[in-house]
Amino acid sequence: MSGMEKLLEVITLTKVYRNGADEVVALKNVSLPIFTHDYVSVVGPSGAGKSTLLHSIGGLEPPSQGAVVFKEKSIYQMKDAELSAWRNTTVGFVFQFYHLIEELNICENITLSAVLGKRKSSFKRAQELLKYLGIEARGNFFPSQLSGGERQKVAIARALINDPQIILCDEPTGNLDSDSEEKVIDLLGRLHREQNKTIILVTHNLELAKKAERVLYLKDGKLNR
Ligand SMILES: Nc1ncnc2c1ncn2[C@@H]1O[C@H](COP(=O)(O)OP(=O)(O)O)[C@@H](O)[C@H]1O
Ligand SMILES: [Mg+2]
Repeated sequence: MSGMEKLLEVITLTKVYRNGADEVVALKNVSLPIFTHDYVSVVGPSGAGKSTLLHSIGGLEPPSQGAVVFKEKSIYQMKDAELSAWRNTTVGFVFQFYHLIEELNICENITLSAVLGKRKSSFKRAQELLKYLGIEARGNFFPSQLSGGERQKVAIARALINDPQIILCDEPTGNLDSDSEEKVIDLLGRLHREQNKTIILVTHNLELAKKAERVLYLKDGKLNR
């Protein structure tokens, strides 16, 4: 169960993309509280604004109007350096296509952001994460040597390296067979239960969305309960 303490809040957020004379309204007046230890999914068709919403929550996409507030602080009012530090420590992203770096081995992929942030003992943590995910033998492999399900586990380990409170998942099983899909979903549930992660999942897949504790619906940039 999610506690009722508010952790993050999307407040009357509107996002308009402008390309020359073209305008796309991706999100319209979206309000969404996220609670401590929440597990929420947002489901909607392609083009509904799901990725835009997730990127906005994760500090990657400044809104046209409205705000994203984390622990009473409006994240887009932070200076750039503060916002990237916030992003690096507070949120972890998991994407549909993994976005692993093919030239780096698994351990290097997982520890990259920690190494860049000059965090010590990231290698040991990477080993622990691989073990937790059941792929401890894969540390020296390269992404091309892994199955899709294993790659997504690596991407999840990478998202966890700085022990963020919030995990943001964008169609995390969109590229997986049903067996791997189930494993990744089980893993997200475990992270929620065992590691107290707050999970926000966006997907077009209603069956997948229903694995969350609460499901919200997004269509044409508008959110419905
Ligand atoms: N960088 C961008 N520039 C212009 N339009 C964009 C951009 N990103 C997304 N959009 C548009 O915003 C709408 C919502 O997109 P998106 O958030 O990716 O939806 P979803 O993830 O639900 O498929 C779509 O119409 C999409 O074409
Ligand atoms: Mg999307």
